[in-house]
Amino acid sequence: MAAPRVWLLWRIGVFLAALAPLVFWGCQVASNAAGPEPGNYLLLNIGIGGLCMLLLTLSLTPLTKFTRWKGFALIRRQLGLWTLAYATLHMLSYALFILGLNWALLGSELIKRPYIIVGMIALIGLAVLGATSNRWSIRRLGKRWKPLHKFSYVILGLVLLHFFWVVRADMQEWAMYAAIAALVMATRLPPVARTLPKLRYRLSR
Ligand code: HEM
Repeated sequence: MAAPRVWLLWRIGVFLAALAPLVFWGCQVASNAAGPEPGNYLLLNIGIGGLCMLLLTLSLTPLTKFTRWKGFALIRRQLGLWTLAYATLHMLSYALFILGLNWALLGSELIKRPYIIVGMIALIGLAVLGATSNRWSIRRLGKRWKPLHKFSYVILGLVLLHFFWVVRADMQEWAMYAAIAALVMATRLPPVARTLPKLRYRLSR
């Protein structure tokens, strides 16, 4: 009986940790501590948050292989859905604070900032993955589920492209996220993936 309770607490802890940055940014805006452009503050921070959530989600499979700890696998769906939640809030911040809900501006915006189209494709991809992450879809899609969810690698590439397009001057931050993404993806290469359990075995001796 104790084990399910521990996993429940673990899941609740992860939920609260994922929610915390949003609460913090919300409080900063409410207390006028978010600088002269609170809308932009929310847009940029939530965008970075979404990328971090995506990287964390994609890290869980290699971490499970390396540690064999069930806890990482248990929060994969939750973090995937948090990625979608952050990306949706990021898009809503754009619609609210940049567009001012004036949809007539969207056409000229897409020409002026084509990276938004890349962000939109990434968001649609995340929505498809979120909608098919439940047990019913896993059963219905059968063998097609795994290849479909590998589309998350393409989404990561799209988000990095979207981010790359936004930053023009200081590439340092982008390069850091791109390096983390490269590392996470490298752990999926068959020779590296095969080495992870062996490495764990060697380190534990
Ligand atoms: C409809 C979809 C999306 C729209 C309209 C959108 C819009 C934007 C805009 C307007 C910016 C700021 C550009 C600037 O400062 O000039 C931005 C930056 C960014 N977006 Fe998106 N985006 C979308 C999807 C996504 C998704 C799905 C992610 C990640 C999961 C993401 C992550 C980021 C990141 C990391 C930045 C850079 C933040 C920074 O410079 O600190 N975006 N996006």
